[in-house]
Amino acid sequence: MKGVVLAGGTGSRLHPLTRITNKHLLPLNDRPMISYAIEALVGSGVGEIMLVTGGTHAGEFLRLLGNGNEFGIDRLFYAYQDKAGGIAEALGLAEKFVAGDRCVVLLADNVFERSIKACVEAFRRQKGGARVVLSRESNATHLRHLGVAQFDGDKRIARIIEKPEDPPSDFAVTGVYFYDDSVWRVLPELKPSGRGELEITDVNNWYVQQGLMEYDVIDGFWGDAGESISAYYAVNDFVRSHVANRES
Ligand code: DAU
Repeated sequence: MKGVVLAGGTGSRLHPLTRITNKHLLPLNDRPMISYAIEALVGSGVGEIMLVTGGTHAGEFLRLLGNGNEFGIDRLFYAYQDKAGGIAEALGLAEKFVAGDRCVVLLADNVFERSIKACVEAFRRQKGGARVVLSRESNATHLRHLGVAQFDGDKRIARIIEKPEDPPSDFAVTGVYFYDDSVWRVLPELKPSGRGELEITDVNNWYVQQGLMEYDVIDGFWGDAGESISAYYAVNDFVRSHVANRES
């Protein structure tokens, strides 16, 4: 399975900090944000990774990560996204890298207390289709800033709603996605959303409609450090006093 780390976008919710650097290079405790996503993949046995980024600070990723070996990566590839056209557009740049294999996609502003290794292994066992990782979130205001899963009577995902006014459940969709190679047929069919982006939620809902979407619910802390300045500091507070990507 190949790993794709998405670190493009404008980081506008963290302006003015992100006018002078890429969001995913901002510090979280003692290291840049991106290193938590890399650690999550490497610790789950994913050794071939493509980093997708954009903007004016892309070169700094090369300075930080180099060939990736110091971070436990076997082979590290880079792609450049010309403009922030959305998560699904950024993923499209990894098609030739993934080339017929399956992939795990990680948003580089997501930080997890618990390792995602069990989810990676569950997708390795899954026949095909897609998989998302959910996190329980009881705060409705917070859910309105995220993708939220709606379930049917069999506890399967019936639909994912992006930034719902009225959240249909307490289960947020985190920034970890698993896809088989059908994803490359879905991406060219997408239409830009109201915010002018190709949405990963539309990709996920395609798999839901085919009956090919599975999920895990992850325990422990999960944070999207790019959601707001207060979310950034909440994630910072967490990683200052706890270990991230913990296996037990
Ligand atoms: O963090 C989880 C949430 O991430 C999910 O619950 C939502 O369903 C999902 O849409 C996403 O929502 P956000 O509004 O937080 O996405 P954002 O625009 O902040 O992008 C998240 C990451 O994706 C960002 O840190 C870098 C990458 N990205 C984003 C865009 C727009 C790119 O690489 N290129 C892009 O053009």
